[in-house]
Amino acid sequence: MREYSRRKFLKKNALGGLCLGAGIQLGANNGLFAQKHLNFRDKHYDEVNWDAIREEFIFPKTFNYLNTASLGPSPKVVVNTIYESMLSLEEKCSHGHHLAKRMHQKLAELLNVDENEIAITRNATEGMNIIAQSLKLKIGDEVIITTHEHVGGAAPWLALKKELGIRVVLVDLDETGQENLRRIQQRITKRTKAIVVSHITCTTGMRLPVKEIATLCRENNIYSCIDGAQSLGMISIDLKDINPDFYTGSGHKWLCGPKGTGFLYTKKELLEKLPPVFVGAYSDSSYDLNKLELTYRNSAQREEYGTRNTPIIIGLGSAIDFIKTIGTEHIESRGNKLCEYLRKELIKKKKIEVITPEDKKWNSSILTFRIKGINNLEFNKELNTKHGIRLRGIYENNLNALRVSCAFFNTYKELDELIKVIDI
Ligand SMILES: Cc1ncc(COP(=O)(O)O)c(C=O)c1O
Repeated sequence: MREYSRRKFLKKNALGGLCLGAGIQLGANNGLFAQKHLNFRDKHYDEVNWDAIREEFIFPKTFNYLNTASLGPSPKVVVNTIYESMLSLEEKCSHGHHLAKRMHQKLAELLNVDENEIAITRNATEGMNIIAQSLKLKIGDEVIITTHEHVGGAAPWLALKKELGIRVVLVDLDETGQENLRRIQQRITKRTKAIVVSHITCTTGMRLPVKEIATLCRENNIYSCIDGAQSLGMISIDLKDINPDFYTGSGHKWLCGPKGTGFLYTKKELLEKLPPVFVGAYSDSSYDLNKLELTYRNSAQREEYGTRNTPIIIGLGSAIDFIKTIGTEHIESRGNKLCEYLRKELIKKKKIEVITPEDKKWNSSILTFRIKGINNLEFNKELNTKHGIRLRGIYENNLNALRVSCAFFNTYKELDELIKVIDI
């Protein structure tokens, strides 16, 4: 029965099937698969076959999916890797905890940090909760956040306001992107303990000057906490260069990784200074119940306590291989080009107001716009149900807008369909 189902699965997923049969070595073999079919990393941008890349995704071509900023679809190779890893581990009745090591290395390489500074989490929100809890803030301490934070980035701090009486200082972001560093700087006081900002906002896809914010934090003895849920997989991230204290992100958005994966980067020096939030099996470097002793591991992975879902963690590694083989620079350029095209076409329409900053320094692969004089959130429902176009309505900050995610697998044709439907 198992063999039958497996054969059927392989047949249905022919391309991904090239690398199946190798059990839990799949993480490594994805490279072979990709090298053969999608190795565009060292090629010129014009040589990238975006149509071939689109073929790697399971969702139907008739579904105009422009919402990767909410949830990135996984390519076949990621789905197959999860499936095959699960089969292999179940055959061995093993949790496969040791296999996560290679995935820490892959994430660390992608982000240019040490693997011991990386913990794999269930999502970006979990990372932000760990950050908020680990700082041991007290009543009256201040944390600066912005008006464009996602609930997952903001709620852990609002909970501390409620439970401990910390002060949360809200900075109203400048939608052009120009003034944000200055606006944040102006709100620093002697009581500021942390600054929490998105690298790229979920509302308008605006980039924030995270490197400068991290520098500002160092100069003022403040923790810099960056929410990278919208940046991992969309742009190249060099954490050595940005140099934040903490950086959290999602695997299941622009990276097109498994749902229920994320990561938390914690700067090495802080691992010695701050206690872990959660502990259990794998959190310790030594443990003796009889002596009532516990020594924490000097690694961010001490937060990965207990039994985990290893197949999705291996799937996360496969998603990293997938995007690296296409090339992170190519992926970033593709998103920017699609967005530029969409902007150019939308501004020809009188009633459209594009909210995402025009300056390339501050924009990304997300374009948010509003149709003046209508309820855009209602119109979004119509786009979805009547036209099969999936965007995200932006209600945050009363923006009454529509957000388009231009992922690397999206096409100009899909954008043309959207442009045509907005018939004003
Ligand atoms: C900026 C930002 N932070 C956090 C989150 C929450 O991400 P996750 O589901 O990985 O916790 C999102 C999701 O859209 C987001 O856009």
